[in-house]
Amino acid sequence: MKVLSVVGARPQFVKCAPVSRELRKVHEEVLVHTGQHYDYLLSEVFFRDLGIPAPDHHLEVGSGSHGVQTGRMLAAIEEVIAKEEPEIVLVYGDTNSTLAGALAAAKMHVPVAHVEAGLRSFDRRMPEEVNRVLTDHCSDLLFCPTATAVGNLAAEGVTAGVHLTGDVMVDALRENLPLARERSTALADFGLSPKGYYLATVHRAGNTDDPAALRAIMEAFSRLDGPVVFPVHPRTQKKLAGYGIVPAANVRVVEPLPYFDMLALLSGARAVLTDSGGVQKEAYILEVPCVTLRENTEWVETIEDGWNVLVGADADRIVAEAERAGGARRQHSARFGDGHAAARIAAIIAEYEP
Ligand code: UD1
Repeated sequence: MKVLSVVGARPQFVKCAPVSRELRKVHEEVLVHTGQHYDYLLSEVFFRDLGIPAPDHHLEVGSGSHGVQTGRMLAAIEEVIAKEEPEIVLVYGDTNSTLAGALAAAKMHVPVAHVEAGLRSFDRRMPEEVNRVLTDHCSDLLFCPTATAVGNLAAEGVTAGVHLTGDVMVDALRENLPLARERSTALADFGLSPKGYYLATVHRAGNTDDPAALRAIMEAFSRLDGPVVFPVHPRTQKKLAGYGIVPAANVRVVEPLPYFDMLALLSGARAVLTDSGGVQKEAYILEVPCVTLRENTEWVETIEDGWNVLVGADADRIVAEAERAGGARRQHSARFGDGHAAARIAAIIAEYEP
């Protein structure tokens, strides 16, 4: 099959690395980078570290409002599809790049395959939730990471083309954790000892675009009983500066981390505080307690098994749960798959007949 894969944002680079490798064993892959993320540390470093092939098309769409960004991508991806004439278009996750890829293909009658289908936070105010729902409803192949995701799709009447493959982030993590442990010097570089620090990430619009929420989160970090390593997303950096919020002395603000350093710091942390989806799941797999700075999550398994807790942007709840993180009762299961999701996806695509 000629598969056109569309990626554009940091988590999509992580997800596409194992899938691209498996695809290229049996299919022809054309890789499209929309340019949604363009900073070296959000994009190029992932291609380098994860050995992702250079994109065949770089659309250089860049930042903008949702309408502007998605619209530019839609027009540009349409041109690439017309030129390349793929037999299937593969999209990942829930970003504006995902929706643009899916919509461009569906309107051109090219089958759409969605990696990470069926996730729901049931919060339509999140741009990602709109992207997920719309992408799933115009997809022909839906690769679900979990049984919960399959159930979510069934509840919306989507059953055709649905496959429970497991989560490709497990594939990426299994493969890269040994490399991260071998290559990353992040703990020593930051002068940290294992379990002697917290790790934090904040980038969701719901937190960054609300000064009161961002202030409460930063206040909570200042009250934690240890150093907080805070790799800061460019949008968050801009918002902190714009609101005049100065992180406290125990908060170590650092640039976005390459994947290996992120894995090393995450696996060594006492707990992670985050509003990212992917980090909640990585924490679960690495058996690191997670405190999620949101009121909902699409990764409910992490909550059910006791590794994750939702605290929103409430400073007292954040501090209490972060400091309690070592004490909760937990269980662990292979609810995100066995690390062979990418191979399954390549095999299902090989058998697909539109
Ligand atoms: C996007 C995804 C989000 C995902 C996240 C991963 C959407 C709607 N959101 O959010 O689901 O979790 O990626 O990081 O698609 N910026 C830079 N340099 C860059 C990219 C962005 O400075 O390379 C700044 C710009 O000011 C930009 C802002 O970050 O306006 C937001 O970027 P954008 O791509 O719109 O969304 P993310 O917040 O990164």
